Amino acid sequence: MSDFISDFWNVYVVVLVIASLVFCAFIILSNRGARPTGTVELHGHQWDETLAEWNNPLPRWWVWLFWITIVFAIVYLIAYPGLGRFGGKLEWTSVNAYQREVSVADAKVAPLFERYSKMDAMQVAADPEARAMGERLYLNNCAQCHGTDARGSRGFPNLVDSDWLYGGDPEAIKATLVNGRNAMMPAFSAVLDSEAQRDVVHYVRSLSGLTADNLRVQRGKPVFATNCAACHGAEGRGNQAMGAPNLTDGIWLYGSTEAIVAQSVARGRNGHMPAHGELLGEHKIHLLTAYVWGLSNNTAKVATTDSSSTTQ
Ligand code: HEC
Ligand code: HEC
Repeated sequence: MSDFISDFWNVYVVVLVIASLVFCAFIILSNRGARPTGTVELHGHQWDETLAEWNNPLPRWWVWLFWITIVFAIVYLIAYPGLGRFGGKLEWTSVNAYQREVSVADAKVAPLFERYSKMDAMQVAADPEARAMGERLYLNNCAQCHGTDARGSRGFPNLVDSDWLYGGDPEAIKATLVNGRNAMMPAFSAVLDSEAQRDVVHYVRSLSGLTADNLRVQRGKPVFATNCAACHGAEGRGNQAMGAPNLTDGIWLYGSTEAIVAQSVARGRNGHMPAHGELLGEHKIHLLTAYVWGLSNNTAKVATTDSSSTTQ
């Protein structure tokens, strides 16, 4: 209600609610009628030969039910929001109610999370119970973009291979999850003419052994050195500090065909991984970090080397 600038809707709702209650009371009172002293009479209406309407008063218990609903409505409107902007004496809001439920649920699982927070990500990854929790968190928060099998799709990186845009050690993964990532690959359509763009596309494809025109590769090499090497490295092996992919490994985020590489160069690419730090909180991020790390690392090895500390 606070979104409304004028007071009109507030007054409108209050008047409408009170008027309906008064109207209900009026209807009940006006139909009270006197208890018949002797015989009940016909109203004079008759249908289908035998179906007649008598002037019996409403049963008392039934009228009381109506009064109870009215009293209930009044008590409810005093306690809970319903009368325009008046928030109710109990100060109930859906946000408060939700947060109460969340904190009750969090308190229940807190000891579990705390146990894992004391272990490092690699040890957590070796714990089957923690992995199961990590998987549930993953399916709820990450699968819509990275896929239920975490193998990603065009523009959404595969998390089970060991190729990383930003680094695959637990610290780098945690930083990705907490702060998100914004890739900045600039568009070159205005910087390079179309011939130079095609040349550099052929050069990029040649880096991972894909078919390319030799002459264009020769011409594309200096174009790459001038325009691309700052981020992708002199040899095209990428730079994890800025998420510039390795262009020599045959793993493609957007695709390797000439048309798609040309599109990457001409329009640029700005992959966006949303920040999850505030949404999920420290404990869940820790479990997810371990889960993601475990997807591309052999956790069994950690389990045997560190078995003493995983069973604390
Ligand atoms: C809205 C879609 C979206 C959601 C939700 C999302 N991601 Fe991402 N994620 C991306 C994109 C896009 C990138 C690549 C960013 C780029 O291109 O630089 C990415 C990158 C990553 C990376 C870095 C990969 C690398 O190679 O360095 C990790 C790790 C990751 N996400 C894990 C997760 C986890 C875990 C969750 C769930 C908490 C999650 N993501 C939720 C879209 C998403
Ligand atoms: C300012 C840094 C920067 C410069 C300069 C730059 N890139 Fe990129 N490039 C990136 C980043 C970051 C990504 C990842 C984009 C994403 O994840 O959405 C990327 C992605 C790409 C991709 C997509 C790779 C894939 O796996 O699909 C290609 C191809 C590419 N760059 C080629 C080039 C070429 C060719 C040039 C020079 C003409 C160039 N880049 C210049 C930062 C840069």
